[in-house]
Order: sequence, then C-alpha cells, then structure tokens
Amino acid sequence: MSWIKEGELSLWERFCANIIKAGPMPKHIAFIMDGNRRYAKKCQVERQEGHSQGFNKLAETLRWCLNLGILEVTVYAFSIENFKRSKSEVDGLMDLARQKFSRLMEEQCFLNVCFAYTSRHEISNAVREMAWGVEQGLLDPSDISESLLDKCLYTNRSPHPDILIRTSGEVRLSDFLLWQTSHSCLVFQPVLWPEYTFWNLFEAILQFQMNHSVLQKARDMYAEERKRQQLERDQATVTEQLLREGLQASGDAQLRRTRLHKLSARREERVQGFLQALELKRADWLARLGTASA
Ligand code: FPP
Ligand code: MG
Repeated sequence: MSWIKEGELSLWERFCANIIKAGPMPKHIAFIMDGNRRYAKKCQVERQEGHSQGFNKLAETLRWCLNLGILEVTVYAFSIENFKRSKSEVDGLMDLARQKFSRLMEEQCFLNVCFAYTSRHEISNAVREMAWGVEQGLLDPSDISESLLDKCLYTNRSPHPDILIRTSGEVRLSDFLLWQTSHSCLVFQPVLWPEYTFWNLFEAILQFQMNHSVLQKARDMYAEERKRQQLERDQATVTEQLLREGLQASGDAQLRRTRLHKLSARREERVQGFLQALELKRADWLARLGTASA
C-alpha cells in the first residue's frame, strides 16, 4: 500500500484547499519537525515511538502538500547537534531513517532530507569550495559573489523555501537553512510535530499569503541590488583596464559596452567550468564514501 498517496483529503479539507489555491501558493516548504519526545512523554510512550509517529506525520504532511500542489519539501531530519543525544536514541533514529527513507524513496517523492546537517557548516563548506576553485585556477577571486556561493550550497538545485515552519513552540532556526530563508515566511507553531494537522499547514499557508506581497517585493529588491552591485564592480574593472591601456575611461561608450560584455561572458564561462568541476569532485567524494562504507 502506498504510504504518501493513500487517503485523500476530506470533502471539507478539499473545499478549503480549493479556496486557498486561488491565492499565491508556496512552491517549496521547509519543516523543522520538533516535539517528538515531548509528544512521547505526553502520551506516555517510548521516545522511539514518538520519533516513529513523527515520521508517519511526515508522510501524511507530504500527502497534504501534494494535494495542495506543493511539490518540493525540505525537512530537518537530523542535525549535527543531534549526535550529542544518547547512543540509544541516535541508534534508534538511524534505524528509523534506514527503514523509513528507503520506503519513502520507493514512492518517488520529491523530498530533500537534511541529515547530519547544519547551515553554518554548509555555508563554510561553500566558501571552502570557492577557495578551492581559485586555488585550482578555475575561478578568478573577482568571481566570488553571493550568487556563486548560492550555487555552491547543497540546495543549489532548489528554489529557496517560500515558508519555513517550526513546530513545538520553539522560536529559533537552530542552524537550519540560514542562508536560504532570508526572504521566507517564518512560521512558528505551538503544536508538537506528531500532532500536526492539515489545518496547521493551512494556517501557515494563509500567513504566507498575507505576507506574500511584502516578501515578493523584498526578494525582487534584493535580486535587483545584487545585479546593480555586480554591474558596478564590472564597470570599475573596465575603467581600470582602459586607464591601464592609456585610454580614456569615459571616452568611447561602445568600447566600454564591448568590454563589459566580454567581462561578464568570460566570468560566466569560468563559473560554469568551476561548477562542473565541483559536481565531479562531489560525485567522486560520494563514490569514495560509498566504497569506504561498503
Ligand atoms: C525533533 O523532536 C525531531 C527530531 C530530532 C528528529 C526528527 C525526525 C523525525 C520527525 C522523523 C523522521 C526522521 C528520521 C531521522 C527517521 P525532538 O526529538 O527534538 O523532540 P523534543 O523537541 O520534544 O525534545
Ligand atoms: Mg527538539
């Protein structure tokens, strides 16, 4: 029996889903699924049972997302910090992950799972990758930019989340997607993760819709600003080149335009070459990891 696809929304849920779908809908939602142990304590069951119910809730939530047309979900399944928990709890979570994620994969669901992850680690790794690119002669130091860093993150294939939801009443990000959520709608909900309902998700989407125009404006302004800054840097570089060649920096507008165009075309070529090399390097690392753990 399919886990995600089984069960449809109730008539009332479907009706409300259709109403909410008339507004701007998120394409990507990230979850910090918090509160499994408090739930276990509240229901007087074993911790592992709390985590297991938490996982079942994830499958249910994915189904709601699919029904709502939200095709991308990212979850914080296990942070690097979580390794500090007792050995039995960590082992239990690992067992759960092994059993349950392989089953989820069979359902071909589009789910990003952040496992042994922290955002600061991801960002510093991206910085190291760019430094490696410069060292290898693939990149010029002037190629380093926010947009290149963005492409070096593990999430480079996904749009940034529109909504980040944390359950259990905790109001912090705990080192999760810090870079990617700068213009996301942050929703903190008191419900414990295993008790999450369709209506909690519905409320989070309503909050997103109420803030949509402000968020969109902030995103657009930020993108514009990034473009403007890059253009300013390029113009300064061209001015420097022309002066070095003994030409008048502000003289020939056509020459300046040609130089600017060449500059950005060459940068794009270097960046693409670097990103391809990075992908190969990562694939090689994963292959070696696979061989070592086999
Ligand atoms: C937070 O609750 C939850 C986790 C640390 C694990 C999240 C995992 C799942 C929901 C199951 C799916 C993932 C795996 C690894 C199979 P908590 O343990 O922090 O509970 P508390 O906040 O009440 O202490
Ligand atoms: Mg917790």
